[in-house]
Amino acid sequence: MGTLKFKSFLSKCGLLRNTFLPTRRGSIKILCNYSSGNNLELKENEYNNRSKLLDVHLPNASQPLKLHPIWLRDHCRCPECYNDVTRQRNNDILKLNEQITISTHSQSDGLLHICWSDGHKSTFSIPWLISHTYEGKYKELQEDASRLTTWDGTTVNSLGLEPILYQRMKKEDKILREIYHRVIQYGFVKIEQVPPTELDTKMVIERICRMSQTVFGRFWETGTNFDHKDTGYLNGYLEAHTDNTYFTEAQGLLVFHCTHFNGTGCESFLVDGFHVAKQLKQLDPSAYDYLSKVNIEAEYIEPGEHFSSWGTIFRHNPVTHVLEQIRFNMLDRAPLSNIPQLDVGTFYRHLKTMAMLVKKKENEYQFHLSPGTVMIIDNWRLLHGRGSYRGERVLKGCYYSRSDFMSKARHYGIIS
Ligand SMILES: [Fe+2]
Ligand SMILES: [Zn+2]
Repeated sequence: MGTLKFKSFLSKCGLLRNTFLPTRRGSIKILCNYSSGNNLELKENEYNNRSKLLDVHLPNASQPLKLHPIWLRDHCRCPECYNDVTRQRNNDILKLNEQITISTHSQSDGLLHICWSDGHKSTFSIPWLISHTYEGKYKELQEDASRLTTWDGTTVNSLGLEPILYQRMKKEDKILREIYHRVIQYGFVKIEQVPPTELDTKMVIERICRMSQTVFGRFWETGTNFDHKDTGYLNGYLEAHTDNTYFTEAQGLLVFHCTHFNGTGCESFLVDGFHVAKQLKQLDPSAYDYLSKVNIEAEYIEPGEHFSSWGTIFRHNPVTHVLEQIRFNMLDRAPLSNIPQLDVGTFYRHLKTMAMLVKKKENEYQFHLSPGTVMIIDNWRLLHGRGSYRGERVLKGCYYSRSDFMSKARHYGIIS
């Protein structure tokens, strides 16, 4: 990694601005020494107090990167300690010696070499060290989240998205990557000109990700299948909601393909839950805070099954505290049993404020799902609904699990 590239990497990780001492251009100079660790937190902890942090000085930085020997030892990437292919560790946490010290260390070509007091040797890439410390990783995750484009019923039409065509997505990997990009960026993607057959619908689905098995099967069909009494299988108005609030982990993505419709009505709509979250935060911060903390139980029953799960409407990433999931389905709410009767007034007040924003027409992206268009929707971000209809309508589709879809998105380099 050249100096300029390295500098831009540091900048990306937020470690450049007033953080590291400037050094001579063209050299990566790493000065390692042992500091006593003088912050209060270290004094509070026996292990930390005894340990000596390693100062790694980097170019164009005013402060060193301070690394704990036990962290470094635990993160040794040598083949004995780590499987680089699967990214799994080989070491035993109980054998990790918290008294380990660094005997010698040196640097060359952006690498940090360490000889440990037990004779073990480690080599680290300096950029890897930066991006995997709290400071670097935190920044990266926050940047991922801040890049998302939220929209309402008007702005969604100015996103300027070129149609994605079935014939191209069948053959080109770059189109697959674009599909992942759009889902992460906007919460949805449409694939056009798909013949309205089960075979072609499955072809699209399986080209993108593996289908998830749920109580509704892997590949489902509404309009002809009356095995399930879920409201989504009926023809009445469906208010905007996310699916599976009654699962311990709601399925991550929904895929729809309306393969047949000969009736009237049935306008579909999507609402960007992340946009609604922003609106609620602005309108009533206490409501946002409340709905981020108070759990709501959801349930669903059908013969032989009884699903139930608790969760908040807004769920945040535990590290970055960035909003990660909306869980909103007013029809699947179980009896409200977790709030004392004297406090339920507050609950209903905040819930209705949120529901009012969800139902605002200005927030709805309205469209007609017609044969030929496969739609993929982020079920952790967007709410979906549709008007009532008359006539025959066949909707085919599936779910993708969050883990599976995000794994692929990471593979394509869309998320960290
Ligand atoms: Fe639904
Ligand atoms: Zn090792």
